[in-house]
Amino acid sequence: MKTIFSGIQPSGTITLGNYIGALNQFVQLQNDYNCYFCIVDQHAITVPQDPQTLRKNIRSLAALYIAVGIDPEKATLFIQSEVPAHAQAGWLMQCISYIGELERMTQFKDKSAGKEAVNASLLTYPPLMAADILLYNTDLVPVGEDQTQHMELTRDLAERFNKRYNNILTIPEISLPKVGARIMSLQEPTKKMSKSDPNQKAYISLLDEPAQIVKKVKSAVTDSEGIIKYDKENKPGVSNLLSIYSILSNKTIPELEEMYTDKGYGDFKADLAQVVVNQLQPIQDRYFQLIESAELDEILDLGAEKANAVASKTLKKMENAMGLGRKKRK
Ligand code: TYM
Repeated sequence: MKTIFSGIQPSGTITLGNYIGALNQFVQLQNDYNCYFCIVDQHAITVPQDPQTLRKNIRSLAALYIAVGIDPEKATLFIQSEVPAHAQAGWLMQCISYIGELERMTQFKDKSAGKEAVNASLLTYPPLMAADILLYNTDLVPVGEDQTQHMELTRDLAERFNKRYNNILTIPEISLPKVGARIMSLQEPTKKMSKSDPNQKAYISLLDEPAQIVKKVKSAVTDSEGIIKYDKENKPGVSNLLSIYSILSNKTIPELEEMYTDKGYGDFKADLAQVVVNQLQPIQDRYFQLIESAELDEILDLGAEKANAVASKTLKKMENAMGLGRKKRK
């Protein structure tokens, strides 16, 4: 069985973009692959975090993974900092990364732009992401489109390592969802929907209440044409809403265009808001059952144990290949 690894940062509220680009794919893939899903808390601290909020967000993300349908019997769910091999292998990956290639990462450029003091970890974030993936001999990495460049670097680093040392790392492939690889902001539909957006109207959180969801969908920026048609270039707002609607309703975009030929944006948005509310309601119910439960801790303890067993083996192999430490006496 092929292996999948993916991670989400517990760096704020989890959005509909994260759900469509990542979590929703994970739920489908867990039936056919050996899956590792990670709460990448060490990535979250590449930008300042309030410790208490971070703790809360880690647990909240863990509960959301389960609430959306990740089955701990099928997939291994764990917290990155509870598996020390990640930070250790991250260092090894940094030692084969070039500063130039890290500076070329668009996410680094975006996050560091205009800042006087930039954490070194913001630059060395991609080698840690590479380590996350490579430790599990991962074949496939389901992510949204914004991670494409990091995935290319991961493949480059794995190939470089294999060439320079032993051929021990599996070269992973990226897996993008067919529709919804890039869900856009509801307020600026040419920008990605992001959990770090200061404007809360720009995203729907998986934990938003129904009234908030209705309000946010209603105030989503569209255009003045009044025609419900997919045209990413000229109608980015409507196209984004159509993508969301299509994924959550299992209707194709042409089917939706047909359904709304004689209707205006008001009807379209009201129906979409209901679709989103209906999708999130059972997720939220399960979330609130889990959040304070001992069951969640048991799942994470077991996940860390399983992940540790695999990751520490790969780490040993990497260290041996690089000549670190001592050779064991026979
Ligand atoms: P993060 O936490 O920013 O996002 C988690 C996942 O959600 C996807 N995503 C989106 N998909 C569609 N539309 C959007 N608007 C949208 N916003 C976010 C992301 O592509 C991602 O799949 N570097 C990663 C975390 C990470 C990781 C890993 C991922 C660390 N190590 C190893 C995969 C494998 C990140 O910051 O994702």
